[in-house]
Amino acid sequence: MSGREENQQLPGTGLIAILGAGSLGRLWAGYLSAGKVAFVPRHGSADVSGADSLSYRLQRFDGSAASVSIPWLTSSSEQPSVLLVTTKAGDTLGALESRLPELPCDTPIVLFQNGMGSQQAVAERWPRRPILAASTTEGANRPQQGQTVHAGRGETRVGALTDRARPFVKPVVQALAASGLKVHAEPDIRQRLWDKLIVNAGINAFTAILNCRNGDILNSRFYLERIDDLCAEIAAVLEAEGGRPLTPAMIRERIETVAQSTANNTSSMLSDRQKGRTTEIDFINGYVARRGQAHGIEVPVNQMLTERVQQLSADPEAGRPGNQNKPGAS
Ligand SMILES: NC(=O)c1ccc[n+]([C@@H]2O[C@H](COP(=O)([O-])OP(=O)(O)OC[C@H]3O[C@@H](n4cnc5c(N)ncnc54)[C@H](OP(=O)(O)O)[C@@H]3O)[C@@H](O)[C@H]2O)c1
Repeated sequence: MSGREENQQLPGTGLIAILGAGSLGRLWAGYLSAGKVAFVPRHGSADVSGADSLSYRLQRFDGSAASVSIPWLTSSSEQPSVLLVTTKAGDTLGALESRLPELPCDTPIVLFQNGMGSQQAVAERWPRRPILAASTTEGANRPQQGQTVHAGRGETRVGALTDRARPFVKPVVQALAASGLKVHAEPDIRQRLWDKLIVNAGINAFTAILNCRNGDILNSRFYLERIDDLCAEIAAVLEAEGGRPLTPAMIRERIETVAQSTANNTSSMLSDRQKGRTTEIDFINGYVARRGQAHGIEVPVNQMLTERVQQLSADPEAGRPGNQNKPGAS
């Protein structure tokens, strides 16, 4: 191991700051709350007005529930030892642009976004900061105001995106593991992000377009007529990107294994669509399409899925299969 990769202690006194007080941020804060955790308020927002903490009920995976109260980070708070970023992919660069100037250059930043593209944008914007990415299969949602549910138990892999981040991987893993959640160091986080992206690219857009649960896509003509071409596009882009090669058949098997094992789940993309929120399509099939175009690879299925989900966000009736008369639905 080179000198640069030797473990480095986290700066500060152990405070974990979380930017993005949504489902995943509240999950981590709730499990870490025995230690020192604070939410970073949205820049210039009134997040902290009237309350110096955010309180909610956390329903743990074992069925127990606890009241959690997490302080907001203020200008008089101590400097955090690590910043977890749990905003949606499309909000991440903007959120960090407004908050990073206040953070010392040696504070590790851990990006939790699904898909790909947002992590690369952050690492390219701040190449000399310790930027890490986490790929997690933990699942959290907020069925009602004031309640966060740990809906799926999984594990979290953490790895370095920038060279400066390498010495921080182990101490960050240790700090996160204090939550009791399963956390591991990941030597090849890009491959891990691709592994998750592949599955999301084969499930999420179909569920959003078909308005169905994960398992239901497997019986849909819309899915069955496109999945092999989609997998061939993903395999070609993955290879061109230098990822661990997978055949289209292996990709399809991975997608369908997860669709079956999560058959009754509502994907985050369908959930966003149902709530009228911006989806992460640009960082899933949209990312595959952009990387394919950059390599001169034809990616019509990824492009079509991206456009249809984008249309659904703009007009909930557009882009549905069978609604071919709608502009842009073809
Ligand atoms: N939830 C999960 O189980 C899970 C699992 C794996 C990965 N992920 C990934 O984790 C990321 C977050 O997911 P999520 O489900 O937690 O989403 P979420 O519930 O929508 O949470 C995102 C939070 O970020 C806040 N935010 C947006 N812009 C901000 C800014 N500029 N400054 C500060 N806060 C800002 C949002 O505030 P507003 O609500 O006010 O907009 C919201 O509270 C996504 O990329 C997702 O794919 C989630």
